[in-house]
Amino acid sequence: MPVSLSGRHFLKLLDYTPEEIRYLIKLSKEFKNLKLTGTPHRYLEGKNIVLLFEKTSTRTRCAFEVAGMDLGMGVTYLDPGSSQMGKKESIEDTARVLGRMYDGIEYRGFAQEIVEDLAANAGVPVWNGLTTEFHPTQMIADMLTIEENFPQGLKGLKFVFMGDAQNNVANSLMVVCAKLGMHFVACGPQEQMPKDDLVSEAKRIAEETGGSVTLTEDVDEAAKDAHVIYTDIWVSMGEPDDIWESRIKLLEPYRVTQEVMDKADDDAIFMHCLPSFHDTKTTIGKDISEKFGVSEMEVTDDVFESTKSKVFDEAENRMHTIKAVMYATLS
Ligand code: CP
Ligand code: NVA
Repeated sequence: MPVSLSGRHFLKLLDYTPEEIRYLIKLSKEFKNLKLTGTPHRYLEGKNIVLLFEKTSTRTRCAFEVAGMDLGMGVTYLDPGSSQMGKKESIEDTARVLGRMYDGIEYRGFAQEIVEDLAANAGVPVWNGLTTEFHPTQMIADMLTIEENFPQGLKGLKFVFMGDAQNNVANSLMVVCAKLGMHFVACGPQEQMPKDDLVSEAKRIAEETGGSVTLTEDVDEAAKDAHVIYTDIWVSMGEPDDIWESRIKLLEPYRVTQEVMDKADDDAIFMHCLPSFHDTKTTIGKDISEKFGVSEMEVTDDVFESTKSKVFDEAENRMHTIKAVMYATLS
């Protein structure tokens, strides 16, 4: 049976089969090829989408906007201050209004249940552009990036996430790796490991696909022979600023350094969803450096800037993959 995702929401990868995820990666490659060869692909002309952002964004917003425009669609962006949603109008009512005007809705914000609620009421496809629990569009871009570097395929690769293994990106990576038969390792302190119920679910999925899920505090064991070393910021959007100090203490042993990369496979790559604190060229980075004397956080600048670092390919791939997700669900 050919895969059809027409009319589907894209809320979390637990809702998608391995075959459907592989289909989205393949479709993304086709869209990347169209873009790179300058071949027009205004396949969704006449449709309109709305992007709701309750948190800030560079990549996700721009990826949805450019992908939408490349596909020939009209795109509306609503930032946290410019809609009634949440303050004067419930999520259900907002969804029912927007569903009357738009063909698809993207949401970035807080609890996963908000985007699930939107989807239940919108009557059109809803795409999760990041919640506290999950970041599914990032996953398709990440898997495409890994496949570009390991053309033999994703199955069987050792994927290591280091740092705050409890955040939206780590949760989603654990799920997608399990779905695609990869060996996922969360490497961080006990306090920041993914929640037990999600780990159990991912382990159950991995058993079916031939992958595995391991949680460890041991950096050497985790990094050994890894194909991918991935990290993310130590304090995510929506978390209070006053946890920086305790997070730095807790997560410093899990910084991705050249020493960590040296323990990995010879062909290993470094990945990060971005934005990243690898230097002090940001207001937060500078502030942290002045307060706590730390000039690099989750990754050292030399690893970030090294040839093993694929972070900007990964960022570019957000656009090709979000295009695939919108095309597959709207056509
Ligand atoms: N990776 C990512 O989602 O980046 P933005 O927060 O800039 O969208
Ligand atoms: N974990 C990060 C991801 C940013 C793309 C956050 O939620 O802020």
